[in-house]
Amino acid sequence: MTAAEARAPAKVNLTLHVTGRRPDGYHLLDSLVVFADAADVVRVRPADAPALRVTGPMAAGVPTDSSNLVLRAAALMGVTAEIELEKHLPPAGGIGGGSSDAAATLRALSRMTGRPLPREVLALGADVPVCMEPRPMRMRGIGETLSPVDGLPALDAVLVNPGIAVPTPQVFARLDRRANAPMPERFPTFPDAAAFADWLAGQRNDLERPAQTIAPEVGAALAALAQADGCRLARMSGSGATCFGLFPDSTSAARAARALARPGWWVRAVRLGAQ
Ligand code: C5P
Repeated sequence: MTAAEARAPAKVNLTLHVTGRRPDGYHLLDSLVVFADAADVVRVRPADAPALRVTGPMAAGVPTDSSNLVLRAAALMGVTAEIELEKHLPPAGGIGGGSSDAAATLRALSRMTGRPLPREVLALGADVPVCMEPRPMRMRGIGETLSPVDGLPALDAVLVNPGIAVPTPQVFARLDRRANAPMPERFPTFPDAAAFADWLAGQRNDLERPAQTIAPEVGAALAALAQADGCRLARMSGSGATCFGLFPDSTSAARAARALARPGWWVRAVRLGAQ
């Protein structure tokens, strides 16, 4: 067994339609998920006792005890390892930080041990299955029903986290309507990123309004993105608070990212769905 590492890319919900609720309280979703070229990094090495070290620019406040999904992922695989989590993404930010970290831990441990990936990962969290194979996916059920989506144009985007964490259960609890329309059964073919953005403008993130009632900062991030030069569409990802704006090219995204810099805000120009 040798050391191994895996990237944990940011997950972005380009759409998130809440279509119902199960008797156990979990919500049924229909979501188009893509991944960004911004990522945390997970490094694992064999050890006699489990250990977790969190490093990197976003390490502050990330738990290092068994509440961290990374350690729960290692326990699920039954592997004892020393783990370094290099944190670049805002935690609890709606871009799958913890879920993507857990999935990356499983990939790294599988490489380290030669063991196959566990098949049952939903118990780690509803967003963990989609993060197991980072590529454009349509996610349904509560996150366990996945179908790969091919042929989507890559998107130049800016991610903005207004420096706050929004608790996911509270956002779901504030929904006015739980039975909303799903996305169309079949997606059109998009000739280019502009056509894709136009179509996305007709879809929704049903959690955007409830998140804004809890955290007005989400509305501020959306408004700032929408006003940035060249922005085609501004939306929230997941249950927030990270929002994304779509831009015509990487130059205008980089320019917008510079213009959007504020104290306490995490802002990144990224490319989405290029995997
Ligand atoms: O599965 P995970 O721990 O990521 O979910 C956190 C919380 O978000 C759940 O306890 C639940 O309140 C809410 N949730 C939901 N429906 C989903 C996913 C999450 O209601 N599909």
